[in-house]
Amino acid sequence: MAFRHKHILGIEHLSAEDIQLILDTAESFKEINSRDIKKVPTLRGKTIINAFFEASTRTRLSFEIAGKRLSADSVNISGSTSSVVKGETLEDTAKNIEAMAPDIIVIRHGHSGSPHYLAERVGCSIINAGDGAHEHPSQALLDLMTMREHKGSIKGLEVAIVGDITHSRVARSNIYALTRMGARIRLAGPGTMIPAGIEKMGDVTVFNDLRDAIKDADVVMMLRIQLERQSKTLLPSLREYARYFGLNQENLKLARPDAIVMHPGPMNRGVEISSYVSDGEQNVILDQVENGVAVRMALLYLVSGVDAILAE
Ligand code: CP
Repeated sequence: MAFRHKHILGIEHLSAEDIQLILDTAESFKEINSRDIKKVPTLRGKTIINAFFEASTRTRLSFEIAGKRLSADSVNISGSTSSVVKGETLEDTAKNIEAMAPDIIVIRHGHSGSPHYLAERVGCSIINAGDGAHEHPSQALLDLMTMREHKGSIKGLEVAIVGDITHSRVARSNIYALTRMGARIRLAGPGTMIPAGIEKMGDVTVFNDLRDAIKDADVVMMLRIQLERQSKTLLPSLREYARYFGLNQENLKLARPDAIVMHPGPMNRGVEISSYVSDGEQNVILDQVENGVAVRMALLYLVSGVDAILAE
């Protein structure tokens, strides 16, 4: 099957077949990351610009490493060191980047829809590395790759996602991706952090109590409270949040004994997850990070071939 998406703007636009192809491609690339010489010539001559206007450790580094391992010229700009601080608009920044003839722009931006805005205005491929509270497609794909590795298949999995669902682009992308692949999703969090009508996004059930959400779950995904996106206080205190919605040694026993614990990072230890759990036997958090490189290699590779496929 050929991949026919020039841009990766969100999981919303991907079919189950697209997701399957991305995961299979990532799996085939993963082996490169354990070689002595971690480099193949696949994207030699391609230029990738990683434009991060919001803080990032995992996504920025893994897109950069992914590009380099495929032999692309991978360069970075950040909001704080670009001319954005002098008042340049996103469109002007992108047009100037485009004048240097990149093949792909990977963008993280605080405003939902920024990657879509750019995709309509520049000629190269755009990959969304997280836009506001909207989507974080590469995160959801690496999450699914990790679930598939540990559970064999995604279809039929009971996946609990707990935390600040309203402000989480990770939750939205995972809900789209898990729904496409036939998983059942349970959401839990304080009422102030669960958007009205979220059940309509797929096979989604909302719980007010973390214990009900994680009971017999195959996967427990914990999310950070996105204080930077909250315009007003939605919590009495972090201590109270940890008491009712934090995953710990005791409440994790409610999940299936072979359940895996996931977190997209960065974690707030002692708030949404205890150190006992985040460092415990059921955690696959660093597997997620490892798979992030392979998934991003797959995305860079797949969008790079689309112009040729569409011209056929
Ligand atoms: N999961 C994630 O997006 O992490 P970073 O913010 O460090 O990229």
